[in-house]
Amino acid sequence: MKGVILAGGQGTRLRPFTKLINKHLLPVYEKPLIYYPLLTLKNAGIKEVLITSGKEALPDFKRLLGKGEEFGLKISYAAQNGAKGIAHALGLAEKFAHGSKIAVILGDNIFMNHNQIKQGVENFEKENGAKFFLKSVPDPERFGVAHVAKSGILSIIEKPKKPKTNLAVTGLYLYDPDVFDVVKKIKPSARGELEITDVNNHYVKAGLAKFEIVNGDWIDAGTFDSLLQASLLMMNKNKEIPIEV
Ligand code: DAU
Repeated sequence: MKGVILAGGQGTRLRPFTKLINKHLLPVYEKPLIYYPLLTLKNAGIKEVLITSGKEALPDFKRLLGKGEEFGLKISYAAQNGAKGIAHALGLAEKFAHGSKIAVILGDNIFMNHNQIKQGVENFEKENGAKFFLKSVPDPERFGVAHVAKSGILSIIEKPKKPKTNLAVTGLYLYDPDVFDVVKKIKPSARGELEITDVNNHYVKAGLAKFEIVNGDWIDAGTFDSLLQASLLMMNKNKEIPIEV
């Protein structure tokens, strides 16, 4: 399976720093944020990774990560013209995917249990549709929230005011190659973005969405509080997981 890291967007919640530097290059303890999703994909056994970001930030990513030799990966890049949404960025990966399944990870998502993800990715090689990774959180209204029954996911609502569950849809998505047709069908939301939740609900409605619950810590490091929390977590735990380059 190939991997895609979405590292565009405006990072408005981390201004003023993100006026100068892309969010995913900010430090989480002793590594730039983007190292974590990159290592999550690498430790899942993925060898080829596409990074998407705005054209002004891409030279910085290239300077930092190059073609991926240092990581034992083959890294390529695609420019997103404007922060038009997570699903818009994903649409840029169609050529790269070239008909294979893909693991898509948001560039600000940090997962600590790489073994679980490796297993999930391996299992998905034999499955179709999509797989999502849910995490019970105290503040679900910040995220896409899954309404789940015994039969599976019933719906996903993006940043609900009154969440029906505390299960956040984390920013790691496994898709079959049909995802690019789904992206082409969805329309921009009220905030003018192509929403990943609309893509995911397409799989839910088609009965093709599987999920698992994330064991271990997960952080969306897109706010000052969560970025600091991520640094503290890494300071205390970075000897316990294989995050060395
Ligand atoms: O972290 C998980 C959450 O991420 C999910 O629960 C939500 O369903 C999903 O919409 C997303 O919510 P956020 O509010 O955290 O999304 P944000 O706008 O911060 O974008 C997350 C990442 O996606 C960001 O680190 C870079 C990438 N992105 C975002 C946009 C809007 C792009 O590459 N291009 C874009 O145009």
